[in-house]
Amino acid sequence: MFLEAGLLTRRSVRKFESGREISRQDIDDILKIAMYAPSGHNNQPWEFVVVEDKAVQQKLIEIHPYAAFLKDASLAIVVCGNTREEYQPGFWIVDTAAATENLLLACHGRGLGACWCGVYPNEARMKAVAEVLGLPDYIKPNALVVVGYPAQQLPMPRDRFKPEKIHYDKY
Ligand SMILES: Cc1cc2nc3c(=O)[nH]c(=O)nc-3n(C[C@H](O)[C@H](O)[C@H](O)COP(=O)(O)O)c2cc1C
Repeated sequence: MFLEAGLLTRRSVRKFESGREISRQDIDDILKIAMYAPSGHNNQPWEFVVVEDKAVQQKLIEIHPYAAFLKDASLAIVVCGNTREEYQPGFWIVDTAAATENLLLACHGRGLGACWCGVYPNEARMKAVAEVLGLPDYIKPNALVVVGYPAQQLPMPRDRFKPEKIHYDKY
């Protein structure tokens, strides 16, 4: 089954073939998978801002200290939470994090590379991203996901299984 192999081989991709576009169909497909993430009370309080415009991408690069590689990517998707739709205060954060992971895996599954660049909980970064994208105050940016066609072959992740992280019945 794709799922397990996909989960174990996904890596953050930060080098992209520049100048390549991602079709609207592919964008819809990966966002559909993001929208199948679990969410509190199944409220699905997410919104996605797809940034294709190079000028807007450049503004995001200037705001974000660790997303310079967006320059060669096809697009960025800013995963946001709608605080008017979340189940309880704070659920937008966890719900949109789940959607972001789904999005990364959807990209990986179709040969696209992606990297999650953190926006939440850095308040200055959240404010700056909100300004660039024109987000109303009830729409909160969680993650800037950079997406493109990979121009690097990354090794498999090192073994991350740590039995000492597992606790049965009591910590
Ligand atoms: C909340 C969060 C914020 C992150 N922010 C950045 C970032 O700003 N820039 C970046 O290049 N990678 C960022 N990453 C990616 C991590 O560096 C990466 O997931 C980690 O090193 C593990 O590597 P892997 O994704 O290849 O397994 C972030 C990941 C998460 C979950």
